[in-house]
Amino acid sequence: MNQTSLFSRNVIHQGDCISVMRRMPARSVDFILTDPPYLVRYQSRDGRRIINDDNGRWLGPAAREMFRVLKNDSLCVSFYGWTQTDRFIGAWRAAGFRIVGHIVFRKKYASASRFVCYTHESAYVLAKGRPALPENPPADVIDFPYTGNRLHPTQKPVAILKPLIEAFCPKGGLVLDPFCGSGSTLVAACEADCDYVGIELDRNYHRIAARRLAA
Ligand SMILES: C[S@@+](CC[C@H](N)C(=O)[O-])C[C@H]1O[C@@H](n2cnc3c(N)ncnc32)[C@H](O)[C@@H]1O
Repeated sequence: MNQTSLFSRNVIHQGDCISVMRRMPARSVDFILTDPPYLVRYQSRDGRRIINDDNGRWLGPAAREMFRVLKNDSLCVSFYGWTQTDRFIGAWRAAGFRIVGHIVFRKKYASASRFVCYTHESAYVLAKGRPALPENPPADVIDFPYTGNRLHPTQKPVAILKPLIEAFCPKGGLVLDPFCGSGSTLVAACEADCDYVGIELDRNYHRIAARRLAA
């Protein structure tokens, strides 16, 4: 990759999101919707793993770059691993984000069963500055249909992402997902009539996302 500034829309970059975001102009993105590694050494039933799920070295630098590229008075929604809540919140606050909402995604199935049956995912709504309130605020408990995880071991349903983009991103605005996996956020951005920028480190998932968006 050369060192010129990156400002193209509707592209998926293959690489480390920290380096890619460093080349994006400050305050160039209208909304960030992302699903980073949860820091839990996740392994799916069929043995698939996620790069950087075993270390948090990227957490602070990625949060700082997300804050820098986001426009003033705008929002970011980030999934996170609930066993590591303190680390995620620490990184977001240190970067400058303010917590303004918390969303629980309710599953009809348990992803695991130990002390309890684990039937939810969660995300924080983070503000840079003082964003205007949305015209139609979404509920903070949302049903989460099963995707089958065919394209990615932690594939998010487009149906839960699209309403968040519609609520929090201006029409035609630019949505960034720096940990885009198979590209679910990017598909949701298209369906919500927005532009997207995706970044994915894993070459295989980058290829899957590129094919999915091309289709
Ligand atoms: C939880 S998954 C996202 C899954 C996605 N929401 C989907 O529906 O397919 C997180 C992704 O972040 C990627 N990743 C990890 N570290 C990264 C980094 N430094 N830069 C870009 N992508 C990274 C992983 O390869 C993984 O695909």
